[in-house]
Formats: sequence, C-alpha cells, structure tokens
Amino acid sequence: MRIVIIGPAGTPRLREAEALGCSVQLLEGPHDVDAQALLWMSINRLAPDVVWCVWDTLRSPDVELIRQFRVIRGQTRLVVEVPDRFEPPNTDVSALVSLGIYDLVPPTRTMQEVLHSHPQYGDVARWHLGTEPLDASPSRGPVAPRDPEIAAAQTIAVISGKGGVGKTSFVANCLVASAPWGAVGIDADYIKPTLPLAFQAPDAGIGHELDQLLAALEGGTGDEAWSARDEQIVRDWVRQADMVRDGVRLIPGPSRARDVLPTVPPGLVTALVAASQRTARLTLIDTPGSTMEQSWVEAVQIADWIVLVTTPDYAAVLESVDVLRKLDLLQIPRNRIWLVISHRGKSGYSTAEITQTQLPLPLLAVIPDNPALWHQAWRLHRPPALQHRKFWMGIVEKMTGLAPDRPNHANPFRVRRRVRSQLG
Ligand SMILES: Nc1ncnc2c1ncn2[C@@H]1O[C@H](COP(=O)(O)OP(=O)(O)OP(=O)(O)O)[C@@H](O)[C@H]1O
Ligand SMILES: [Mg+2]
Repeated sequence: MRIVIIGPAGTPRLREAEALGCSVQLLEGPHDVDAQALLWMSINRLAPDVVWCVWDTLRSPDVELIRQFRVIRGQTRLVVEVPDRFEPPNTDVSALVSLGIYDLVPPTRTMQEVLHSHPQYGDVARWHLGTEPLDASPSRGPVAPRDPEIAAAQTIAVISGKGGVGKTSFVANCLVASAPWGAVGIDADYIKPTLPLAFQAPDAGIGHELDQLLAALEGGTGDEAWSARDEQIVRDWVRQADMVRDGVRLIPGPSRARDVLPTVPPGLVTALVAASQRTARLTLIDTPGSTMEQSWVEAVQIADWIVLVTTPDYAAVLESVDVLRKLDLLQIPRNRIWLVISHRGKSGYSTAEITQTQLPLPLLAVIPDNPALWHQAWRLHRPPALQHRKFWMGIVEKMTGLAPDRPNHANPFRVRRRVRSQLG
C-alpha cells in the first residue's frame, strides 16, 4: 500500500506506516495557503492509495483544493487526523463531511486501527450530535488488499410520500447520468420491484434476482445476524450484478413471478450498500412508497443524500410533509435532503409555494410534465437521460458535487488568484 503523509517533521505516523509495510512518503509541513495548491498537485501525481493528512500541518486549510483532489482521485482514501481540541459542532469537520470524508481520526488512534475500519457518514454524525466520541468508528473488517475501496463513494436514497410520483423514473435516469463514474442501482422496493423494467423487458430474463441471494444467505449457520461469510456473499453478489448499461450495475428486487413475498432479513440494504460502495462511485437506492418498510429506514439511514420526490398536487405534498417529519425523528439532517418536483399534469401548488412554505428544502430539479416521453421511455426500456444527457448530468453534478474528469484540463490545482482586498 502506498501512503502519503502530510505531517510535521519527525511525525510518529511515518514509523507506524513503515511498520505496516507501506511504502511511505512524507510531505513535510507546515504548508501555508499558497503552498497548498502545489501540495495537492504533487499528491495527485504520486497517486497513492492513502493520504494521511495531519490537519494542523495545513495552515488555513483550503477545502476547495481538497474537494478538487477528491473529485479527481476518487480511489484514494483520505484520512484526516484532527486535533484533540476539535469539539462538535465544528465547521472544518462539517466541510470535510460534506465532501464525503468520514475518515476523521483523533491523534490517539493507531494507523492500523484506522486503516482497518470503514467509517460511514453515521459515525461522524453521531459525534457531531454529541452522542459518541470521534474514535468510536466501529471496525468493519480488514481492508481486502485486492478489493480497493472507492474512497469517495456516495449513496443516494430516493424517497417519496405518495406512490407513483416518479421515484423509479428518477433513479433510472440518474443511473444513466452517473455511468461515467460507475454506478450501482439498488431496487429496495421489495413490494413493487420495477427498477429493472426501466432498462429491460420483463421477460428479458434477469440473471440475478434477489431470491437467489436470499437463498445463499439462508444457507449459513444463522447464529449471527451478519457473519463475515454473509458479508462476503453480499460483496460477491454486488460484484457480479448485471451490467444494464456501460458503467451501470443493477441489484434487482425479488422475482415478480413469486406468489409470496420473500422475507428480507434486516440489514440487507445496509450490507448491499456497503458492498456497492466498494465497487462504484455512486449508489442509488430506489425505495418503497411506504416509510414503514425496514428497507426504507435502512436506505435513509445509510445514504449520504436523500432525494424526496413529489408531484405538486395536494395529496402528494401533504404526504411529503409527513415524510419529512419522519426523517426528523430519525435525526437525518435537513441539509442532506434534496427536493425534486416531478410534474405530472398541470394542477397543484406552484414551485414557489412548495419550496417556501410546504417543503423548505433545497430544490434539486423540476422535471417537466411530458407523458409521451415517459410512456415511450418505459415502453422501450430506454430512460430519457440517454437523449437528454445534459439535463440529467446536471442533476447528478449538483447533488454530488462531482464533475466529469476533463483530461484536457491540464492543471486542476492551479493557484487561484485571491482577491485580497475583498477578503479584508
Ligand atoms: N415527469 C413526468 N411526466 C409525466 N409522466 C411521468 C413523469 N415522471 C414519471 N412519469 C410516469 O409516472 C409513472 C410512475 O412513475 P414511477 O414508476 O417512476 O413512480 P414511482 O414513484 O417509482 O412509483 P411507485 O411508488 O409505484 O414505486 C410512470 O408511468 C412514468 O412514466
Ligand atoms: Mg417505483
């Protein structure tokens, strides 16, 4: 494993990394604001597996440069060693978390512990809520050496209050638009699994239906809720999932031919997402219309972003207000929830009425009413994003902060001219 340490001269982390058998390079700090562009540019060239950044070595840390590094080097794990004096809530930590960096560690944790754990958004969130110390991130098993974690993976759960408002349509199109980064779609609507229909005819013979996975999981000893063996089964399952388009894999729900719904074990959606995050930069979860489902709760708890889809009609908006209340109860921060207004028909509230009074959330997109377009899309199993790429790419970029790599952009870490007079 190649690791780059941004730290002070003589940092003990250097010895720790060597003891773990890593090839190490120390980029000795302090690095002031003007040196940081050069710093991230060199790390980009070095292309390490892990960057270990001692936060205090960056004097006035430039978070925008870290964001750019993140976008360009999604495979690199970015660990930030934050000083003990950081108390929640902390604006630096919030900025890092908003970039999907959850590897925030106190100086007391050993490098070995850190590299063997996989913190999720929830681990940092609990610290921010003051319910847990920062070093409580549970270990989720060792990092498999030949299974590189996608460090910058993001997960999006698409939910709604009322059924039939366009969740599945939204997921399918975002998947198409996310293909350049590698995307996995998880159909967690186990009651009406329709996501595969957006891509293929019902009789196309989906190779991997959820039933097979459930059967494989049942074959275990069943003593433990989620054994290492179960997790490995789920990981293999996700890796072998059908590629429905270039860059898009699909994890379908149960077979539609079954008379009785299978029992889905608690933790399945969480395990699927954890596995998906190892193979794809973006994971999109299609959820059931009912907030009472276990899969719905798991989806909103594990997601980095939640997209609430509503139509403008009275009933749909009212149900959405209810859903928002449920998310509050689950302590999902409002700044992780986006609103999508999907127009079907002309009636209902205006966009301003919805966003200003009923559902005060950042508006991600307004999908115009176009029955003919959507009818064709479902009939031919070709999501409209295949033709309207720009519109849907724009949505994904706005939501995730990712932008397609532009190889002709020679130096993304160029020193930006600062207008000092404006900064006072
Ligand atoms: N912007 C739109 N304009 C017109 N029709 C649309 C639009 N978006 C979706 N539709 C249509 O609405 C119907 C329902 O969409 P979809 O299946 O995506 O909703 P859903 O929220 O996933 O439903 P469910 O709750 O049943 O899972 C589909 O027939 C689709 O073609
Ligand atoms: Mg649906």
